[in-house]
Amino acid sequence: QDGFHKRKEMAGRKLLVTAGGTIEPLDPVRFIGNRSTGRMGYAIAEEAACRGAEVVLISGPTSLPDPCGVRVVRLETAREMRDAVLQSFSSVDAVIKAAAVADYRPVEVSPHKIKKSDDDLVLHLVRNPDILYELGQKKKHQILVGFAAETCRVEEYARSKLERKNLDFIVANDVSEPDAGFAVETNRIRIFDRNGHATAYPLKSKRELAGIILDHVASIWGN
Ligand code: CTP
Ligand code: CA
Repeated sequence: QDGFHKRKEMAGRKLLVTAGGTIEPLDPVRFIGNRSTGRMGYAIAEEAACRGAEVVLISGPTSLPDPCGVRVVRLETAREMRDAVLQSFSSVDAVIKAAAVADYRPVEVSPHKIKKSDDDLVLHLVRNPDILYELGQKKKHQILVGFAAETCRVEEYARSKLERKNLDFIVANDVSEPDAGFAVETNRIRIFDRNGHATAYPLKSKRELAGIILDHVASIWGN
C-alpha cells in the first residue's frame, strides 16, 4: 500500500466522524439499541488521523478503544449526538456519518425500573431528529458523507438518501449479507455520488474501506 505517500495528505483538514449506534433509554436499566459496533467509523477516524487530519470522533456506546490521535466524544442518545455534531459542524471540512442513529426513542423515560405485569407492554416511540438531513440543510463548504445500511433495494434507497440529505456521496452496504455490515471485520460497499456514478468494491477489511472512503473525500478536495 502507498501508506507513506498518503500519510500526511490530510494535514490541515478537520474531520468529524460519527460511529456506533445511539441508544435510547426506556428506564434506568433498559434501552433500545441496534447492532452497530462502531468498527467502520472508528477505522475511518483512525485512518484520517494517520493521514494528518484533525479528527473528532463522536461515538455511541461501543467496546472499542479510543483510536490514536483522535479526540473522542462519547454519548448515548440521538439527541445528544445531534447537539455534539452541530457544535462542531461549522469548524470542520468534512463529516462522515457512519453512526447508526436511532430513528425513534421512547416518548418518555420511566424514572423507575418498569415492573412486569400480566398485561402486554406497549411502547410509544417518537421520531428522533435526522442529524444528517439537518447538516445537509446547513452545509456550506463541508463535504458530507452518509452511510446506508440496507437489507433490500440498496441502490434505490441509497440514492434517495443521497439526494434528500444533500450529501456529496453515500456509502451503501447490504447488511443481509453475512460477511458485510454489523459486527464483522469486513464489509462490501458501493459508493454512489452526485454525478450518478456508482463504484462497487469487493469484500475488504473495514480499515481498507476506510482508506477508500477517505480517498473519495480527498478527490473532492482535489488531492
Ligand atoms: N442518520 C442521521 N440521523 C438519523 C438517522 C440517520 O444522521 N436520525 C444518518 C446516518 O448516520 C447515516 C444516514 O443518515 O449516515 C442514513 O441512515 P439510515 O438509517 O440508513 O437512513 P434513514 O434516513 O434513517 O432511513 P431508514 O432508516 O428509514 O432507511
Ligand atoms: Ca434509520
